Amino acid sequence: MTDLIATACSILRQNDRGGYTVPTARLYPFQWNWDSAFVAMGFATFDAPRAWSEIRLLLRGQWDDGLIPHIVFHAPSDDYFPGPDVWHTRHRVPTSGIPQPPVLASAARFLVDHAPDPALADAEMAAIYPALLRNHLWWHSARDPHGTGLVATLHPWETGMDNSPAWDSAMARVPTDTSTVIRRRDTTHIAPEMRPRAEDYQRFIHLVDHYSAAGWDPARMFASAPFKVADIGTNAILLRAERDLLALAERFGTAAERHAMTTRIARQTAAIAAQWSEDHGIFLPRDLLTDTPIDAATSAGFLPLWAGCVTQAQSARLGATLDLWASQVQRLVPSFNPADPRFEPQRYWRGPVWHVVNWMIAEGFQTAGDMAHASRIRADTLANVTGSGFDEYFDPRNGAGLGGRDFSWTAAILLLQSLQVAGGS
Ligand code: DGY
Repeated sequence: MTDLIATACSILRQNDRGGYTVPTARLYPFQWNWDSAFVAMGFATFDAPRAWSEIRLLLRGQWDDGLIPHIVFHAPSDDYFPGPDVWHTRHRVPTSGIPQPPVLASAARFLVDHAPDPALADAEMAAIYPALLRNHLWWHSARDPHGTGLVATLHPWETGMDNSPAWDSAMARVPTDTSTVIRRRDTTHIAPEMRPRAEDYQRFIHLVDHYSAAGWDPARMFASAPFKVADIGTNAILLRAERDLLALAERFGTAAERHAMTTRIARQTAAIAAQWSEDHGIFLPRDLLTDTPIDAATSAGFLPLWAGCVTQAQSARLGATLDLWASQVQRLVPSFNPADPRFEPQRYWRGPVWHVVNWMIAEGFQTAGDMAHASRIRADTLANVTGSGFDEYFDPRNGAGLGGRDFSWTAAILLLQSLQVAGGS
């Protein structure tokens, strides 16, 4: 374990570009939103000031309306498509124009709770609390303007799970023509069979063109979106983040803010509960344009455990669903139901295991009192890294590493798991 911890620390150092971290060299040469939230927690296990810097630099990309974009283009690079010239946003530091799963408030709470120097943590937290609050308010006003309790996702990249089979049917309605010339760079770094297909990219870029033409205005985007889903992962992560922000608001916020958060939490909890599928034994995403559940059991369907909003009966059933998946693959948690014909064990989010998702699901099972499933998932995470290294994702059939190498968030999760081994949490 000591060697793994040392390697994980050195990967984070090596991917440091001066106060922020790239997910991995070349393939992802900028700062990514949810990657950085996990990276900040990873740094917090050995370098608290550097952990806060990760968050501060991400917030340099925050828009005046509260959006924290999914990419902050701190420095130019030809290694990635689509760059700032495709997004056409107008922020001071160039950014994309869409969000990513909002793990940030949960990461900030983790930094406060694990602070070796509480005075430093208090000062840093007080400085960023207003930005986190504005971001949560953005989620509710921009993505749930009618107050349903579920926020909408308007681009698969916002879910972080870009080419999940969960988006196939909704994406099939999105045209493939683009006004931007597509010059993919990812498939020059990584084998094409581990990445989204050409047709996926045509639709991804069609959506970017569409929202760019809408001037990145939240109301126009929401009203005209050709793709609009309630991602169960994003909604669960936002609910958990809201609860973490509420805990922070006890010290850094006001009574009025706490009251508003409590109201939102109740609404979100009820809305997520309604996404439970007794048939599938898991929570499902929802297509908001057809107003129907999406028939796709993904690893995101376990994330309400992370949000702490499942009943005992649901938790037991989620454990049984995971057992079913475990009978078909060697390593948990595949990103998609391995019994479904759409499962592809090596293609990005259509089957491979992702350690950040594993970590949240394991924490969730532990909170629900199910230590057996929590331990099994953590053991598989460790076995993947021990057997293969700090890859971007892993083949659930055998634990083989896939995608980019020396990956920041894979390193961060190893460091977070090492805390559990050491008896903390
Ligand atoms: C990519 O480029 O693969 C990212 O997932 C989009 O943010």
